[in-house]
Amino acid sequence: MSEPTVFLTNEQVEFYHREGYLVIDNVAPLQEIARMREIYDDLFANRVGRQEGNQFDLAGTDDDDEEASLPQILGPSRYAPELKQAQCVTNALAIAKQLLGAEAASTGDHAILKPPFHGASTPWHQDEAYWSPDWDYNSFSLWLPLQDATVENGCLQFVPRSHKLDVLPHHSINNDPRIHGLEVDDADLTTVVACPIRAGSCTVHHNRTLHYAGPNNSPTPRRAYIMGFSCPGVRRTIPRTFPWNEAKQTPRQERAARAVASVESLP
Ligand code: NI
Repeated sequence: MSEPTVFLTNEQVEFYHREGYLVIDNVAPLQEIARMREIYDDLFANRVGRQEGNQFDLAGTDDDDEEASLPQILGPSRYAPELKQAQCVTNALAIAKQLLGAEAASTGDHAILKPPFHGASTPWHQDEAYWSPDWDYNSFSLWLPLQDATVENGCLQFVPRSHKLDVLPHHSINNDPRIHGLEVDDADLTTVVACPIRAGSCTVHHNRTLHYAGPNNSPTPRRAYIMGFSCPGVRRTIPRTFPWNEAKQTPRQERAARAVASVESLP
């Protein structure tokens, strides 16, 4: 593994803990971004992971004969292991150890593609709303665009300090439990900060930070590669429920269940 080339200043670490997000420059060399873009486009073009439920439509009903409105791949590095060798992966882990502590480790990667002139936004949400309610988390997502990210093409936007909130009530997009994506029911958006960044830079956000990405109104795809990092979770003593997840019934889950069943039926 290569040596990290990024070291956060105390001001950056303090900013993350105070505001719940951070912009970090120069985490990936531009040559590497260009190479990752090629890999990324191949993974989507070949619909890798579709049968196992690892490629799906985040914002639509994800029917087989429909073009995805907001295609997502879970664990793209499973299908393109060369992604694990990238300098930005080394840098991301170093950033995680600075922000979360020495125990921080990768929790995996995903990819979210916004096609050109794609009208759907990624609604306001907290990432923790997707997860098990049984644990407390200390984690963040590192969001690396594979081209410049602008307000026009759907850069991330944050509500500063919202990571201090509890997990707010969420619902499935369009209140349709067949759709994977979640949206917060209600949130105070008066202090929103948009974070346009250049290719090679990234944003990070805490698992409770409210965030959003607008539609892609540009003529080129908006590609985001996302890496998760976490300290070991702590089992909650005070129970809570996330009813929006209990109601889910997505085609992605059905494909994943079928793929597991077909593996188990092998001789
Ligand atoms: Ni998110």
